[in-house]
Amino acid sequence: MLPAYITNASAVLSGGKRPMDHGLHLGKNRVLGAGKTYEGLFGGCSAGILCGLLQQLYSGSFGYFPQFITVLLALSFGAILGDLAGSFLKRRFGLKSGAPVPVLDQLDFVAGAWLLLFCFAREWFIRNFSMDVILTVVIITPILHLLTNYIGFKLGMKSVPW
Ligand code: CTP
Ligand code: MG
Repeated sequence: MLPAYITNASAVLSGGKRPMDHGLHLGKNRVLGAGKTYEGLFGGCSAGILCGLLQQLYSGSFGYFPQFITVLLALSFGAILGDLAGSFLKRRFGLKSGAPVPVLDQLDFVAGAWLLLFCFAREWFIRNFSMDVILTVVIITPILHLLTNYIGFKLGMKSVPW
């Protein structure tokens, strides 16, 4: 899961000012909101993929060539996609950027990564994500997420601690 975690955290660190929805609205609300930027997309994905390549070099965690490339792309782009889907949903419910939605805020990126893995690297996904691994990730991720976001907030990188 590390590449997905790094993608998610680096998107926050590299968050810039070019919103991916280009300021467009769907009904009364923004499509995604000001908190989803191109800088976050590119910064997040490149950091996540770089992390994954280092892991691959070190321990071959993601299978053989060319499969490991698909796995890494699914983990990083899936994390971003899940986060975007979470924001899209929040905006449809009229929630402003930064409004907290427990569980969704912490696990949307995990769901995105798993969905892309399931679609594009199913064999690797099933081999590596047994029920106990999935349960562990679902329990540990919100704790890690809240902890790192609180640190980001204290360092002035996030406007809210969640
Ligand atoms: N960020 C970004 N691009 C992304 C994800 C995050 O630029 N794809 C940056 C933004 O500066 C954002 C911050 O990281 O404000 C925190 O991310 P997140 O909590 O996901 O967004 P929120 O601002 O809380 O908005 P939302 O309610 O849509 O989750
Ligand atoms: Mg948020």
